[in-house]
Amino acid sequence: MAKKKIKKSFEPKIMTYLCNWSGFTETDVLTAGAIQGSPSIKVKRVVCSGTIEPALILETLNQGNDGVLICGCHLKQCHYINGNEKAEERVAKSKKLLKLLQINPDRVCLDWVSPEEKSKFINLIKDFTEKIVSLGPYNNGN
Ligand code: FES
Repeated sequence: MAKKKIKKSFEPKIMTYLCNWSGFTETDVLTAGAIQGSPSIKVKRVVCSGTIEPALILETLNQGNDGVLICGCHLKQCHYINGNEKAEERVAKSKKLLKLLQINPDRVCLDWVSPEEKSKFINLIKDFTEKIVSLGPYNNGN
């Protein structure tokens, strides 16, 4: 009888780039991460999601993170006019680049949050954590 390969669960390392204007704090991310099975989630506040370049996303993964979550303001609500539209374009480019490098593009997630969307924010962290757990560690080459 063939042995079934069981993917062991692991504690994912997730870097969150959080727009300063999103209404959430580092504590919100860390608390949600701890509750949602991602106690080693990290947070860097940025002035706008549009500042996140493809090179930074790749560098973040190469620094030992298993996933990159970018949280920006909703479209038409960016404090820098269209920074979040730039973020959309840059994340799309990043995903294409990751695909070329044979890295699963699902390791990167961009979403919009606002202060009144606490449950959406918590679910976003939960869903992304689950996604990264299902993908396994980044250094496994997927
Ligand atoms: S200021 Fe929040 S995404 Fe631009």
